[in-house]
Amino acid sequence: MTANSFGESFRLTTFGESHGPMVGVVIDGVPAGLPLSEDDIKFELSFRRPGRPFVSGRREEDIPMIVSGLFEGKTTGAPITILVKNSDVISSLYSEIRHKPRPGHADLTYIIKYGFENWDYRGGGRASARETVGRVAASAIAKKLLMLVGVMVAAHLKSLGTVEADRDYSFEEILCSKYSPVRAASTSLESSYEELIRKAMSDGDSYGGIAEVVSKNVPPGLGEPVFDKLKADLGKAVMSIPAVVGFEYGLGFKLAKMRGSEANDEIILKDGKLGWRKNIAGGMLGGISNGEDLVIRAAFKPTSSIRIPQRTVDLNTMEETTVSVIGRHDPAVAVRGVSVVESMVAIVLADHALRASLIPRVKLTSDQGREVEEKWKTYTEQCRKGHSEESQ
Ligand SMILES: Cc1cc2nc3c(=O)[nH]c(=O)nc-3n(C[C@H](O)[C@H](O)[C@H](O)COP(=O)(O)O)c2cc1C
Repeated sequence: MTANSFGESFRLTTFGESHGPMVGVVIDGVPAGLPLSEDDIKFELSFRRPGRPFVSGRREEDIPMIVSGLFEGKTTGAPITILVKNSDVISSLYSEIRHKPRPGHADLTYIIKYGFENWDYRGGGRASARETVGRVAASAIAKKLLMLVGVMVAAHLKSLGTVEADRDYSFEEILCSKYSPVRAASTSLESSYEELIRKAMSDGDSYGGIAEVVSKNVPPGLGEPVFDKLKADLGKAVMSIPAVVGFEYGLGFKLAKMRGSEANDEIILKDGKLGWRKNIAGGMLGGISNGEDLVIRAAFKPTSSIRIPQRTVDLNTMEETTVSVIGRHDPAVAVRGVSVVESMVAIVLADHALRASLIPRVKLTSDQGREVEEKWKTYTEQCRKGHSEESQ
């Protein structure tokens, strides 16, 4: 079984390689009657797009084409196929790594598994994060569906290298970080991240970072009791993102060092309604959403493709040598990774909301279609003040 598909009720299959003609996604399980346009998809893609300052210099416009499942601006209930062309491809930059696998990348494991002769080495082939274009494209649909239950998902870069957010941010600050070129939720943090990325670029090195995703108004009761717990599906979704090395929710790994009396999320009454005092659990208990904000984090390792020479083996001569990776690479994958993690959270929440029948599985009424359209307009206009198209 090759798992290029994910999700149960909202099921996506991604396809394409870094230097192939295109990448894309097929999404099955989208109810009919959802207003959808290529601009909606382009909006989400603009936040992971390369070719901007502080990220990979590969210049891709990332213009999506919807080629199935849409009729007169609305979904039909059939699978939706979205294609995105790869236009800025320079495969010659990869001729050296064809026989000198990069330390920290997937080159050698792909060669071991699929055979040297079958390995598409150009730009990392299928292991390239270009694949995540399909996920982010699908997230526009997931986010639109979630608007029917009032869920909003937002993400920011909580830390980069050893530079960390020094305070808690409001949901709006997190939401508006999408217009920061380094996904920082405050201007002071933005300057520190930018300085660090400039350093990485001049040193020919890279940094890791932590993305945090906050989801508001998540209905209680999402998640199935055992293997399809919400935390399990979120964990899988997030860990499937290239370069993600860790997943946590709530206080996460910090809980392992606390005592139960500190770690327990105390149950209280908030305006007469049941609630949890500090949301230590990050919105999930027993793998089921509890109605508090859903808070998850993903740790990204530093980009493996760096200019600093490192040891590898030349597969032609089977002698030890060094490789210095040139080409257009993200100095910190976590920066663009933020929108990919945000997308995967939206996809899992939409999947579970469909499974729970909180979102109609077959078709939306025209009132629901209008509601989504209005909410989407508000969402895409939020935080825009002072930000041009180019800064996305
Ligand atoms: C948005 C994004 C951009 C990435 N860009 C690069 C890159 O420019 N160069 C690179 O070596 N790795 C990049 N990666 C990471 C690699 O794809 C990843 O490290 C590789 O496939 C090996 O998988 P693993 O790190 O999960 O083991 C990127 C990851 C993400 C999420």
